[in-house]
Amino acid sequence: MELATIILAAGQGTRMKSDTAKVLHPVGGKAMVLRTIEAAARLSPRPPILVVGHEADAVRTAVGERAQFVTQAQQLGTGHAVMQAADVLRGQAEMVVVFYADMPLLRTETLRRLVDSQRQNRGPVTLLTVTAPDPRGFGRIVRGADGLVINIVEERECTPEQLRIRELNVGVYAFEANWLWENLSRLTPKSKGEYYLTDLAPLAASQGLPVIGVEHDDLDEVIGINTRVHLAEAEAALRRRVNQYWMLEGVTLIDPATTYIHEDARIGQDTVIYPNTHIVGKTVIGPHSQIGPNSVISDSQIGTKCVVNSSVVEEAVLEDRVRIGPFARLRKGAYLAEDTYMGNFGEVKNSRLGPHTHMGHFSYVGDAEIGADVNIGAGTITCNFDGVNKNKTVVGDHAFIGSDTMLVAPVTVGNNARTGAGSVVTHDVPDGALAVGVPARLREARSPDSA
Ligand code: UD1
Ligand code: CA
Repeated sequence: MELATIILAAGQGTRMKSDTAKVLHPVGGKAMVLRTIEAAARLSPRPPILVVGHEADAVRTAVGERAQFVTQAQQLGTGHAVMQAADVLRGQAEMVVVFYADMPLLRTETLRRLVDSQRQNRGPVTLLTVTAPDPRGFGRIVRGADGLVINIVEERECTPEQLRIRELNVGVYAFEANWLWENLSRLTPKSKGEYYLTDLAPLAASQGLPVIGVEHDDLDEVIGINTRVHLAEAEAALRRRVNQYWMLEGVTLIDPATTYIHEDARIGQDTVIYPNTHIVGKTVIGPHSQIGPNSVISDSQIGTKCVVNSSVVEEAVLEDRVRIGPFARLRKGAYLAEDTYMGNFGEVKNSRLGPHTHMGHFSYVGDAEIGADVNIGAGTITCNFDGVNKNKTVVGDHAFIGSDTMLVAPVTVGNNARTGAGSVVTHDVPDGALAVGVPARLREARSPDSA
């Protein structure tokens, strides 16, 4: 049985008061329209039909190949929006699921329940409802004595008695396709000349056909976003959903309310996340690590038993037992091998630090290859930029870089070599050698044992 989905995204979203189309506003870092498309894509192999209108070009660009587009040139209501898909879908599917692009937290399982319920229905419509203390301006569900839905009344058109109804229209519908295409043309315009999709419910009821309302108990999931207040509510609800998942997977969140974990991130068991921590993008964190407080980690890999305290980590790799912070910054291409330590006010970019290397205080390491068990003294800087090109610094294993050393790249400091405090190293330092001064000159070579 062929199933098609239609997602309505043509409205302006006036109440958002934004230059950006409502459905392009992100929730959890992803445009809400993309979230709804993903929910639909998991329901049926046929790409969802997206009805676009307001800011159509921007929406098309954001969505790309993920949907088939239909244009609603004039936004004459949700019923009118669905009519625009008739030519594309007529005769193509037996059931049509319609929902709105401003419901970013809707789950595919919920759509499936609705579809199953419509399969049992001998009538042409099943729709999702929710009972909530705050009606949020949603349409009210009017049921008849037999429990079937007989009307959906928009808030502005409710009688005082209907305003008290707390069962609300979520805006997710499963229709028998033939009935839908036949009856859309029977809709008549309401206030402001709009054709309401919701009027199909009383229409079916008037034909003696059952309209089933399936009650849904997760209010968070069916939050429809009309204002930025709703946007923040959805953001918080998504955060709760993701945080709860990781807690149940064995991750300790000291304060879930201030822990922000992107859905694409992965976290190992027994890791502890301290408050005010953002884990962004496709970050992977191993088990038994301590992350935060006050840290931002994006698109990075962090190993087992690492400590990241009050630091910013971007597109970097930390092997096992790496400790950084407070106030460390790792930029793109930073690679810290196992057991490295990086203290306060350090920055590493596009560089590898070998195992057991220490970089305690106030250093910049960029475009460098630092060996194993190196001590990088306080205030060391790789002078990697000569005004035109970025140049590479190489430091060998067991080297000792004295405090406040300037490594003027391109330059190599050999294995077991040393630099004196305050030296400016402009020439390579051979293995085991000592360089001191400004500019640095070699002193007699000393073996590491006599150091
Ligand atoms: C709609 C429902 C209401 C329900 C609520 C749930 C109708 C008439 N009312 O009201 O019963 O409780 O959603 O959130 O359907 N759109 C178009 N073209 C248009 C108008 C709207 O594509 O001409 C799209 C919008 O982009 C949006 C969706 O349809 O994604 C819903 O429109 P909106 O104006 O937000 O409807 P509500 O007033 O919230
Ligand atoms: Ca809405």
